[in-house]
Amino acid sequence: MTGQEKDKAIGVFDSGVGGLTVFRELMELMPEERIVYFGDTARVPYGSKSRETVTDYSRQIIRFLRTQDVKAIVVACNTASAVALDEIEGETDIPIIGVVKPGALAASRVTKNGRIGIIATEATISSGIYEKYLKEIRPQMKIFGKACPLFVPLVEEGWLKDRITEEIAERYLTGLKGCGIDTLVLGCTHYPMLEGAIRQIMGEEVVLVNPAYETARECRAMLMEQGLLSEKGIGPEEKAYHFFVSDAAEKFKSVANMFLPMGIEGAQKIPIEQFAYKSRKGAQHIYDERVQYIHTGS
Ligand code: DGL
Repeated sequence: MTGQEKDKAIGVFDSGVGGLTVFRELMELMPEERIVYFGDTARVPYGSKSRETVTDYSRQIIRFLRTQDVKAIVVACNTASAVALDEIEGETDIPIIGVVKPGALAASRVTKNGRIGIIATEATISSGIYEKYLKEIRPQMKIFGKACPLFVPLVEEGWLKDRITEEIAERYLTGLKGCGIDTLVLGCTHYPMLEGAIRQIMGEEVVLVNPAYETARECRAMLMEQGLLSEKGIGPEEKAYHFFVSDAAEKFKSVANMFLPMGIEGAQKIPIEQFAYKSRKGAQHIYDERVQYIHTGS
């Protein structure tokens, strides 16, 4: 692999700020890597949308990330990993990983009694994907899924520590507490930002699994295997991290700054729907125009 290829950035995306939980682990594990993050803040939440829609959005984002010349993609969204990854990975010629497989693996290593709770979006829960992966690892495991759709807007709003958030957490999670689980997977990348409220209901004896950590490790292993780990690191004049959103850049910045250890200067707004292929021939044209727009900044 050429030095140039290795020194390209990693592309990371989610429906909004949630993927920052994965971004943070990537950044901490691989400080020498550049990262381009995209949050689809104009179209969040993904969790209540159909497979077709989420797959379409994911395709558009990947096309955008390709204009940023990324060497690999991390789908930092459980919903897109659950419903779209199978299809889009066959269409992408750079390495791509999601968060669900690493999350399932992490949970299977943690559980002692084989009773695992999964909290996630409606789309992820109804896809049954965590259960499928966990039962492939150990068929006797008992899985208890619970969709918590209100968690995503609370996080996007920045209500990470709020009485309303605690009340909603209690309403969603009390039933799960009675199921005898010893492990709870935070199966939506937004949820680790509510860890305090979730922990308060679940108590200390249930282990909370954040798939982001395992995903970052898997990403590093994948880059290493493909000879894509950066060797040159980040130069003193170089910007290591770029943030893009499809809307509400200021709001994104303020929630990001509540959560990330370093402050971010801002996020650039991108008209993401222009990365859709409209018609076979015309589409390529639109896409090429956008590439030029992004690169010239005009
Ligand atoms: N953070 C995403 C996930 O992991 C999407 C949440 C949503 O947009 O509904 O599922």
